[in-house]
Parts: sequence; structure tokens; C-alpha cells
Amino acid sequence: VLLDVASEHVVAIVGKRGSGKTHTLGVLAEGLALGSNGDRRKVGDERAVAVLLLDTLNIFQWMHIPLGTARGSLAETQRNLLRKWQLEPAMISPAYWHVGGYEAAHADSRPFTLRPSNLTPQDWGFLVGTDIATQPMGQLLVAAYEKVTSTGWKRGPGTIRPNKAYRIEDVIECIEESEELGREFVPETRRAVKQRLGSFVRSGLFSPEGSTFQELLRPGGLSVLLLARVPDNVRSLVTFLVIRRLLEERSAASEATKAAEISGRAMPSGTVPKAWVLIDEAQNIMPSQGSSLANDVLTRFVREGRNFGLSMAISTQQPSAIDSRIMAQVDTILAHTLTVRQDANYVLANMKSLEPKDVAFGGRRVSLSEALRLVGVGHCVVSSVDSERTFFLEVRPRLTTHGGFGA
Ligand SMILES: Nc1ncnc2c1ncn2[C@@H]1O[C@H](COP(=O)(O)OP(=O)(O)O)[C@@H](O)[C@H]1O
Ligand SMILES: [Mg+2]
Repeated sequence: VLLDVASEHVVAIVGKRGSGKTHTLGVLAEGLALGSNGDRRKVGDERAVAVLLLDTLNIFQWMHIPLGTARGSLAETQRNLLRKWQLEPAMISPAYWHVGGYEAAHADSRPFTLRPSNLTPQDWGFLVGTDIATQPMGQLLVAAYEKVTSTGWKRGPGTIRPNKAYRIEDVIECIEESEELGREFVPETRRAVKQRLGSFVRSGLFSPEGSTFQELLRPGGLSVLLLARVPDNVRSLVTFLVIRRLLEERSAASEATKAAEISGRAMPSGTVPKAWVLIDEAQNIMPSQGSSLANDVLTRFVREGRNFGLSMAISTQQPSAIDSRIMAQVDTILAHTLTVRQDANYVLANMKSLEPKDVAFGGRRVSLSEALRLVGVGHCVVSSVDSERTFFLEVRPRLTTHGGFGA
């Protein structure tokens, strides 16, 4: 079974723990990175699609190890499977990234840093752990942000002019020295916000320019952002920012390309490439607090992204935790084993293609819901708007080293 990636998709891979979701996501990543004829795509080809894998569990950090030389019984099992399927191991060299300021899980990974001016007051509130509408610390953040970025503020006899490309230090300075903020907020609130912002100045998460998509996304290449060893709020924030900025920059790039086409001018160069964003266990980036922020960002991405060459594939063991607005945009569902009735019902209610009335399974006739409970590891039910009927699929073995095992 081939997935046509000439056009954009939103793919959901669901199933209980150990049912094969990560494996399937890896197969998709391999397919995207290897191209249709199995050879490696040329990295750097401007027309090629970039693949960004947000790895919330650091499972994909061994992908570069050629399966032929990987040791251990798991690799041996994988090689045997490949022989059975008459497939050859493949080589992919992902670019690994970790979050700036946090432990590099991978010896060859580069730090991904944020640019302060890409954060909205809401993002700052989320990072600092305060609500910008109802809590004093949040209100102070908004007030200082307004002064620093749009109105400017008075310091002694002079004024500090607004600066959209601000640094965290500018916000701290404003909180320290603006008389107006001094009158409006009690010292404890100001001290608390300054302290938290100060810790981010020192953390290494931010840098003046921040990492760019030109660095992160390689047309025709795979980038793995390792997110497991960072606190939940930072992991979520990094993910929102990446997704939101990718949408903004692709929308600009796609407009520039259209303008060039229509006017016959030269195509813009150095723009952000078309991309697939893959997120394993997507519920790990859905914070319990601020989940509406995450859902809004993801919803916008899946709704608008396809107009700008953006696709997404997420896996989750909690399908009922996927916002219904996101589920409505999914065009292809790969459902591995689902044993919780609520999850199975949610998935069945969102099927994209004609369902069988009943299924012949192990010599019995069962319902689709029952089949979802019984289907084995690595097998799944596929429902796609591009397919007239729902069908069963056995996912091929991985061509690169798979780290999705409980050690
Ligand atoms: N299609 C498949 N072919 C072979 N082995 C598979 C397949 N899918 C999953 N597995 C194996 O099953 C185990 C669990 O798969 P995994 O993808 O980690 O599950 P999940 O992400 O759903 O928890 C892994 O050891 C993996 O290698
Ligand atoms: Mg998994």
C-alpha cells in the first residue's frame, strides 16, 4: 500500500501501547526521506519536502545506525523480518537537534534555540506558569510586553523606544525601571516575574536570533528534534512555536512563490521548504494546563497548512484526547489495536471511508470494533478519504534501526 505524498495530508496513527504506532510513524518517516524508488533523496533539492520529526520520547535517536551493523537481538529480528519481506536495509542520516540549554541526548545533535521576539504574551505566560488574563504576574507580563514592543516607556527624563525585536533583558529592564509599572504592580509580583525571566536568560533556551527553519528543515532530508529531556512546559512551547512559525513562514513563502509565478519574476530563493511534521505520542505536547493553546495551534496548522504545502502525522495512544476539530481535518487514519471502547468508538465515529459491515477474522465474523480490539502488533485498519473502502494493512518492517522498545 502506497501513500500518495504528492499532495498534503493529515494522518492520525492511533492504538494502545505497544501496538506499533511508533514503528508505523517511522515507516512513514523513512518513506518520506527515501522517496518513492527507495533511493535517498538529494538533500538540499529546493523542491523536495522536508521532514521534521518531533520525538517526545527520544526513540528515533538511533535511526542513523545502519541496520546491517546494529547489534543486539532486536536488530537481528528486524534483519530477519526484512529478509522475509525481501527488503533491503536503508541508510538515512537524520539531522538531530535538542532543545537549547537542556541535555543533548545525542552526541551529534545541535541546540535548537528560540528567539524571544517570536513569543507572544500568552506564550510568556505559559512559560512562566501564569495566566495573562487573571493573575497579577501575567498582567505584568502583558503590560511590560506592550511597553517594550509597541508603546515605549519612560525612564527618568528619557524614553525607551519600542522595539519589536526585543530581548528578554529589555523586558526585565522595563519591569525594573518603569515607574508606571512600579506604581501598578507590587514589588513581589515584579520580583517574581523578573526572577523567572532571568532564569530563561541564563538557561540557553533563547538566543538573540534563534534557530531558523532554514537550518532546521532540510529539503529532502529528515530532522529529528529530541524533546524527551525537557520540562513539559518547555517541550510544549517549543512545539507550538515551531508549528505556528512554520505555518506563518510557509504562508509567506507560498504567497511569494505565487506572486513570482503570476508576474513572471524569478522564484524566491531561501524560503522555508514544504514540510511534513511528524509527532510521536502527540498527547505529550498537550499540556494539561494550556491545552487549549496547543489545540488552537494544531487546529490552525491542520486546517490551513495544506494550502501552504504542510502536512502532519501524529500518533497517540489516547485518540479520544485529540480535539474533534483536529480529527475533522484528518484524512487518513491508521488504527492499530484499540482495546478501550471509548477510544474505538471515537475512531469509528471519525472513519473517512466506507466501513465493512462485518469482518472475517480468524475464522469468525466480527464487527469492525471487535476487529480493532483483536488486530495484532504491526497490523492496522486504514481509513482514508482517498480510499473507497476501509481496509486492513500489515505495516512493513523498518529499514532503519528502530528504537521503539521497552528496555
Ligand atoms: N509492523 C511491524 N513489524 C514488525 N515489528 C513491529 C511492527 N510494528 C511494531 N513492531 C514491534 O512491536 C513493538 C512495539 O511497537 P511500537 O511501535 O513501539 O509500539 P507503540 O508505539 O504503539 O507503543 C516494537 O518492538 C516494534 O519493533
Ligand atoms: Mg510508541
